[in-house]
Amino acid sequence: MGRYGGGNYPNSPATSPPGLLSGIPSSREAILNHASRRPLRPFAYVVAAVAAIGGFLFGYDTGVISGALLFVKQEFQMSYVQQEIAVSSVLAGAVLGAALGGRLADLFGRRLMMILTAVIFLTFAFLTSLAQNAVQFMAMRFVVGLAIGVEALISPMYIAEVAPASIRGSLVTLDQLAITVGVAASYLVDYLVSPNWRSMFALAAIPALVLAVGMVLLPESPRWLVVRGRLRKALAALHRIDGKKVAQEELEQIEESIKEEKFSWREFLGTRWRKPLLLGVGLACFQQLTGINTVIYYSPTIFSLSGYGQAAAIGAAAVVGAINILSTIIAFLLVDRWGRRPLLLTGISGMVTSLLLLGVYLGYLHLGGSLLVLLLLFYVFSFAIGLGPVFWLFISEIYPSRLRGTGMSFCNVANWATNLLVSLTFLSLVQRLGMGNTMFIYAGMGVAALLFVYYLVPETKGKTLEEIEQMF
Ligand code: BGC
Repeated sequence: MGRYGGGNYPNSPATSPPGLLSGIPSSREAILNHASRRPLRPFAYVVAAVAAIGGFLFGYDTGVISGALLFVKQEFQMSYVQQEIAVSSVLAGAVLGAALGGRLADLFGRRLMMILTAVIFLTFAFLTSLAQNAVQFMAMRFVVGLAIGVEALISPMYIAEVAPASIRGSLVTLDQLAITVGVAASYLVDYLVSPNWRSMFALAAIPALVLAVGMVLLPESPRWLVVRGRLRKALAALHRIDGKKVAQEELEQIEESIKEEKFSWREFLGTRWRKPLLLGVGLACFQQLTGINTVIYYSPTIFSLSGYGQAAAIGAAAVVGAINILSTIIAFLLVDRWGRRPLLLTGISGMVTSLLLLGVYLGYLHLGGSLLVLLLLFYVFSFAIGLGPVFWLFISEIYPSRLRGTGMSFCNVANWATNLLVSLTFLSLVQRLGMGNTMFIYAGMGVAALLFVYYLVPETKGKTLEEIEQMF
């Protein structure tokens, strides 16, 4: 089950794609009913696989800094604060990208924006690798962050809009999985080309080029074309994606549902949707405040601060990336059987336990070695079976179709902003309070997250999206 997938429930409509300020309504109910009657289209898999390269770039370009930082900081003689800014500039860009992405995709189309972001990824992969000083490096990373923020919204949105509803959940899952694969690939590249940090950034140009060329060859989202009144093009896109037999009927259904569902700020900000907004934004913040990206971005730094050599530190980080992927797959297998709450509660409990042990281990026993790696792996495993995927899934379930894009965008911005806060403060906290106490702070956030989930977050497993809507 993916971030935006909702189609796995019995009789459930698939979910709406995200998009900040995106008021474009959804056609999913109509399409879902229809989709169950038609054969699966391999072309939809091709479309999803190409678009998921965007997710891969998101993972790669956020993860690559972890290994690169060890060498960039040496070359540019960076202070702790400068290192934090170097890591965080990409996130500041992503906050802005997440805020603008939905609107840009509504104005210019998903496909064009995906091509544009791929070109930005490509260009700035090279420009980052050519940076001559810390300021240039940070500026390049900010622009890459903008592309990540836009892409993180549009690529799953595009997949969700072109996927047949019956397989939409799993197709969108490809994007989420691609993020973890991208992170792991960045660790591997860091390891293989180390200490050549310039190549680490330049290599992102390869997937960016594949994405750009792939998107040029793919059709625009039929749903967006209908919204813009380009019915002939929409029909042509539906022909390619779903075949001639059903294209006309689908077009009519999309037109019909777009008439039915209208976004309104008044409704969105009204009292009824306050709780889902609080839940989504709350989980978005806890997903970051429990410190996952200190490990994702800084794990080689953590290992080297604990006495590992640079190459061994990057190698250990690669294992972290592999566990992240495998645990995400486990979560996808369990989430519809166990439910969201058990996974969240188990996962967060595991995070709190490992953070407390890490705090004692690093702060008081001052030890490194294989137990440190094991504790970090247990922490990443706990994140990846719970807060990691379930946050994205949950925010795709709790808003009605007409409000989902905007609701999810609020959560996206909150997620990137708290990610930025944690990344900006991590090394300073370590310097001032020590690694052990820093881990205790994240453990404290984990306890708050546990209470938040236990008392406020409802179970959504097995419910149709209409039933969930009725819960609020
Ligand atoms: C989070 C990212 C994190 C990634 C790690 C995602 O769910 O939103 O911030 O880097 O998981 O796999």
